[in-house]
Amino acid sequence: MKNVAWAVTGAGHYLAESVAAMGEVSRKNRVCTFVSRAGEEVARMYGLFDKLSEISGGGYLEELFFEREEGASSPKAGRFMMNKFDLLIVAPATANTVAKIVCGIADSLPTNAVALANKAGVPVYVLPTDVLERSETEPPYTIDRDLCIRCEVCEPREACPKGAIAAQIDLVRCDGCGICRDLCPQGAIRRAEISFVTRPLDRENIERLGRIPGITVLAGPEDISKLL
Ligand SMILES: Cc1cc2nc3c(=O)[nH]c(=O)nc-3n(C[C@H](O)[C@H](O)[C@H](O)COP(=O)(O)O)c2cc1C
Repeated sequence: MKNVAWAVTGAGHYLAESVAAMGEVSRKNRVCTFVSRAGEEVARMYGLFDKLSEISGGGYLEELFFEREEGASSPKAGRFMMNKFDLLIVAPATANTVAKIVCGIADSLPTNAVALANKAGVPVYVLPTDVLERSETEPPYTIDRDLCIRCEVCEPREACPKGAIAAQIDLVRCDGCGICRDLCPQGAIRRAEISFVTRPLDRENIERLGRIPGITVLAGPEDISKLL
């Protein structure tokens, strides 16, 4: 059994795959999770927040740490210096977090975890969302304006437990439960796949990341299971 530290950043792409891999890894290992502020919000939008608490259930080295609660100096990241973890996985890693790491910036819970793990000689594995030149991804729920017919009584709006639906879905309130999708008679609320192209800047940052001693860039979510 290994002590695995896992940093989750604010990325939707590869999030479901990363959380599934975390669940798999946690069956035979302890997983302690470090979530950025954006990571907390985005995990909620995708309905995956509760899954994180299931995986890192609260026992020692199986805790769930939120940047929001950890102050500006991230003292919990100090555990890397005390050799508490065998490895650190950052998945998914936003372009923002990758850029910070390659510049030596440590001002969030995940970037502090990487900096201290790297200094302590703990191997770090990073899965950037922009690892491919072009990717398809599913955003959180949105209202398709071409399908919405503005019913006098909007059932999804009435039923949303978070009061997140007005003219648009307020994603910061949304917890991705999907009740709205099931209630809209027009099928106007959905997750329509979108594609995005990796910026040259992000590609360069990923190359630089891979040249940092002690850090390995993963080529896709399927590489995570090969680590343990
Ligand atoms: C729904 C949603 C999905 C996002 N997905 C990604 C993503 O896949 N990759 C990425 O680089 N940024 C993504 N972002 C933007 C990041 O959340 C944003 O840059 C944030 O500041 C990253 O902070 P962090 O790196 O500290 O987690 C997404 C934002 C939202 C609202």
